[in-house]
Amino acid sequence: MKRMVTFLLAAVMLVTLFVGCQKEDSHVGDDKGEGTPGVEKKEAGNLIGVAMPTKSLQRWNQDGANMKELLEDAGYKVDLQYANNSVETQMSQIENMITKGCEILVIASIDGSALKGALEKAAKENIKVIAYDRLIRDSENVDYYATFDNYKVGVIQGLYIIEKLKLDEGETGPFTMEVFGGSPDDNNAYFFNSGAMDTLKPHIESGAILIKSGQTDMEQIAIQGWKAEGAQARMDNLLTANYADENIDVVLSPNDSLAQGIVASLKAAGYGTEDKPFPILTGQDCDTTNVKMLIAGQQSMSVFKDTRTLARKVVRMVEAIMEGSEPPVNDTKTYDNGVKVVPAYLCEPVFADINNYKELLIDSGYYTEEQLK
Ligand code: BGC
Repeated sequence: MKRMVTFLLAAVMLVTLFVGCQKEDSHVGDDKGEGTPGVEKKEAGNLIGVAMPTKSLQRWNQDGANMKELLEDAGYKVDLQYANNSVETQMSQIENMITKGCEILVIASIDGSALKGALEKAAKENIKVIAYDRLIRDSENVDYYATFDNYKVGVIQGLYIIEKLKLDEGETGPFTMEVFGGSPDDNNAYFFNSGAMDTLKPHIESGAILIKSGQTDMEQIAIQGWKAEGAQARMDNLLTANYADENIDVVLSPNDSLAQGIVASLKAAGYGTEDKPFPILTGQDCDTTNVKMLIAGQQSMSVFKDTRTLARKVVRMVEAIMEGSEPPVNDTKTYDNGVKVVPAYLCEPVFADINNYKELLIDSGYYTEEQLK
């Protein structure tokens, strides 16, 4: 009986939480430029700068488009810029936004440590800065940070590997594994790596998981610019040097762009047959290319970070700043940028694989069935 009550209580709390979130999140989209009740209608001139890193990765296109749409719906003007993964381009775009009179800057940085100078200029003009998805480091002029729980992304990947190898059910392997890291200039890369490696650590220490190359330090495993080609080249080398006589069982890839390069390398090495099945391979972002790879059995899982949720959260932050109220944050401890701990809102990442992708990605309207064909 006690159990039943606890269960019911938990259920009620969950529902309340869910409804609460829905309410808060729908605030932005429903606004349609009418302004929040009780808040003065914004001037048409309120310009928000949105600096995105690159169009070459699907997710940033979605992030940018979502931000623009939601901000415009809420009555703002938007200066949306993509920097083609060039740090210099991003810096000059940000300086331009400052000159144009943007009131708030939303920045998904390329090199998290390269924007100090630009942000000093922003601060002098009283422009607030929100770091989008990636923390901006070494600057006191970062006011808020909105992202997904990056450590948790890694934990989800680690737990998936443990479950698939049945390591918690007494399997002792040894299973061979190699580890990839994200771009060394992206703060997120370290969080993804720690989340996954902390989770897998007991099984690496027990010998159930064997990293044949011995490469686990970020200096050895990081792929500059999150480039698929970089991952492909490293995977080629790993396979030649360590897996000439046996198959690799697992590849821990922090995201989907690296997973694409890894799959290209595996295919070239003859994986994808009965004798040489594709290894367990993780990812993150649910890019359409990778969801197709999930469906084709070439990639095992991805972590879904609904960019709509993040954009809604950031637009709420923008609205709060403009209203002079406190933007929503739920973490004031984790993201130390080297100068200060930046108050953050962490959204929840979600596990995706062949079994739940339809519900998660199609039923939710994130993709159409067509896009995944
Ligand atoms: C993002 C990932 C993305 C990666 C490469 C990271 O900062 O959090 O979602 O896959 O950058 O663009």
